[in-house]
Amino acid sequence: MYAETSTRGYSRCQTPKSAAPGTVFHVKLRRPARRATLVVHVAASAGWLGLTLGLLALATAAITTDSHPTIDASVRAMKVFTDWLVLPLALLTLLSGLLLSLGTSWGLARHRWVYTKFWLTLATTVASAFALRPGINEAAATVSAGDAPASSTDLIMGPIVSLSAYLFMTVISVLKPWGQTRRGRRLRAAHQRGQRQLAEKQSASPHKEVDAEVMRQTA
Ligand code: HEM
Repeated sequence: MYAETSTRGYSRCQTPKSAAPGTVFHVKLRRPARRATLVVHVAASAGWLGLTLGLLALATAAITTDSHPTIDASVRAMKVFTDWLVLPLALLTLLSGLLLSLGTSWGLARHRWVYTKFWLTLATTVASAFALRPGINEAAATVSAGDAPASSTDLIMGPIVSLSAYLFMTVISVLKPWGQTRRGRRLRAAHQRGQRQLAEKQSASPHKEVDAEVMRQTA
């Protein structure tokens, strides 16, 4: 409700003192832009989740067989996925998520579910770049040299951990649990105070408002 009302159309922020929720540099995302960004965000995050499921299937195939050609093919396929897809999808999810957070009333640090997703996505992106990808590259080099991968646990742990994280993030994206952060509550209270003061000012001098409106219309 809070998000719904404040993300209708474009608006310049009118109250610099208590920056309206849902603005990037005081500019809200227009409704079509928000929808397009949401489509990109859901497509990228679903793609990332699917990719991790694929990695899990390939790792399972590689560690449950004695056939060297199957191990070789599975690990090479994992390398193609991690070389070409993991980081672009991770970054696209992160960037579109940031845009949706900062350009709408959700905010980045106003709601616990958004803040949790931000830090978890950042952590999994870093882990993908500095642990998952080098681990799979190393396994691919070992398998290409005709040896078995050094550790089957290493091969499958990355996909298991990231799949669990993405499933968790999908659940909290849909349920949006835990309410607002302390910062979110503080900003909302300040915003409501500002609105109340404005309403009080207007009701104290209604004729001034009417005069100003008439001036604007006749100018
Ligand atoms: C793997 C990571 C992520 C997954 C699986 C994911 C998934 C989703 C899904 C499925 C939705 C649609 C929910 C709905 O409309 O009911 C969504 C919305 C959203 N996500 Fe994410 N997300 C991820 C990362 C992020 C990150 C890193 C951020 C912030 C930095 C973020 C911020 C948001 C926001 C603010 C919305 C609400 C957009 C709106 O309703 O306008 N997400 N996410």
